[in-house]
Amino acid sequence: MRKKVLAGNWKMNLNSNQSSVLFSEITSSFIDNSYLKIIVFPPFLYTKDLLSIDSNVSIGVQNFHPESNGAYTGEVSVSQIKDIGVTHTLVGHSERRTLFNESDDFLKQKVDAALKNNIEVIFCCGESIEIRESANPEDFVTKQLHSSLFHLSKEEIQKCMIAYEPIWAIGTGKVANEDQISKMHTAIRNEIKSKYDEETANQISILYGGSCKPSNAKAIFSCENVDGGLIGGASLDSNSFVELSNCF
Ligand code: PGA
Repeated sequence: MRKKVLAGNWKMNLNSNQSSVLFSEITSSFIDNSYLKIIVFPPFLYTKDLLSIDSNVSIGVQNFHPESNGAYTGEVSVSQIKDIGVTHTLVGHSERRTLFNESDDFLKQKVDAALKNNIEVIFCCGESIEIRESANPEDFVTKQLHSSLFHLSKEEIQKCMIAYEPIWAIGTGKVANEDQISKMHTAIRNEIKSKYDEETANQISILYGGSCKPSNAKAIFSCENVDGGLIGGASLDSNSFVELSNCF
C-alpha cells in the first residue's frame, strides 16, 4: 500500500542553530511508524549536520545540478548530494521553474540523475491563477507530468512521488478547495493509470502543497487521492508540523 507522507520544505529560511533546533524538536516528537513517512528539506548548507543525527525523519535537498561534476560555478552536483547520504529531492517546484527558469527538459534531466543515484524524487507540478481561471488546469498539470516524468519506466516512476501545488496557493494563505484538490489528484492518478497501469498508479503517493496548515489539513488530507502534504510556511514551526502529522 502507498505511504502517507508529510514533507517540510524549509526553503531559504533559518540559520544553522535554528535549523538544528527545529530538526531536534521534530524528531523528538514523532513516533516511528510504518504508516507515515516524514521528510524535511532544509537549506542545503545544513543538510550534512542534520544527516549526522540518528533519526526517523528523512532528509532531502531542495535542489541539485544533474551533472556529476564540472564547470558549474556555485552548483551542487547529484553525486555530491548522494555522497553525503541524501535520500530525497524536490524536482520541479514552481519557484525553481519560475525564478530560476528550470525548463521541462532540465527537470527531466534532474529526475533521471536523481533516480540513477538512488535518490527518491518528489516531482512538483501545478498551475498558475491564469490557467486556473481561463483554461483546463487538469490538462496543464498532466502535460507537466508527460513533459518531465512520464518518460520513466514503470519501475522508475514507482520511486517517485508527485506533489500538486497550485502556484496561486503557495505562501498566499489561499487554499485550493476540496473539489479542486480531489479533481486534480484523481486526474493525476488516472493519467498514471492510463500511461502505466493500475498497480503503478495505486503505488504512487500524491501530495498536496499550498498554504496547508493544521487548521485545514484534516479536510485536505481526507480528499480523494491525497496521500499527504508538502508544507512550506507551517513546516518552520515544530508545533504546527507535528500537529500536521496528526491530521491523517
Ligand atoms: P506553503 O509552501 O505551504 O508556504 O504555501 C508550500 C511549498 O512551496 O512547497
